[in-house]
Amino acid sequence: GLDGCGKSTQMELLAAGLRERGYVVLVTREPGGTVLGEAIRDVLLDPRYHGMSARAEALLYAAARAHLVRQVIRPVLEDGQVVLCDRYLDSSLAYQGYGRGLGIEDIITLNVWATECLFPDLTLFLDLDDTLCSERLTAVPDRLEAEDEDFHRRVAEGYRELLTLHPHRIRRVDARGTEAEVQERVRAVIEEELELFSH
Ligand code: TYD
Repeated sequence: GLDGCGKSTQMELLAAGLRERGYVVLVTREPGGTVLGEAIRDVLLDPRYHGMSARAEALLYAAARAHLVRQVIRPVLEDGQVVLCDRYLDSSLAYQGYGRGLGIEDIITLNVWATECLFPDLTLFLDLDDTLCSERLTAVPDRLEAEDEDFHRRVAEGYRELLTLHPHRIRRVDARGTEAEVQERVRAVIEEELELFSH
């Protein structure tokens, strides 16, 4: 979802719920999740690099993802664990594909290569109105948050288009209301698609 939609909180609550059910859960985030990835994250979010070319930006997100997949996600999946990732390639489709106007075809090709074809079983899109998202953002805005309204509008529209293009792979969750209410919706979708809670 957009910055400030509450995804990190919801992911932690979901991880706790899954662990209670006996799953071994790895929680990670993008960009980041590895020492190299966190270094790339610092570069990506640093406002000093305002005006970074869109292709360089797409490649840096893909570089962080490639390393995270190789070093963390694949080994952990092979070990039978559940992986919850705070953002993944659908963020690149929304932000770089639509937001930066690079188009989704090239971003998909780049990410198929970067991840060696590792796609998520399910992506949740936490849908919260732009203005409510901005209200939740506090500290100093990072490089992406500091982008203008038009950019964020294109990202939001991009997510909507992705939802219609991939209705089963990406599920929308209404992110309005209390943390508990949103978590209930998150679990309902997880249950419907992956049946992790009924086993
Ligand atoms: P995030 O960690 O969600 O930021 P925050 O913790 O501030 O909510 O993501 C950092 C920013 O990077 C966010 O603005 C979205 C952007 N982003 C992309 O543009 N492309 C990507 O592929 C990813 C993973 C994130």
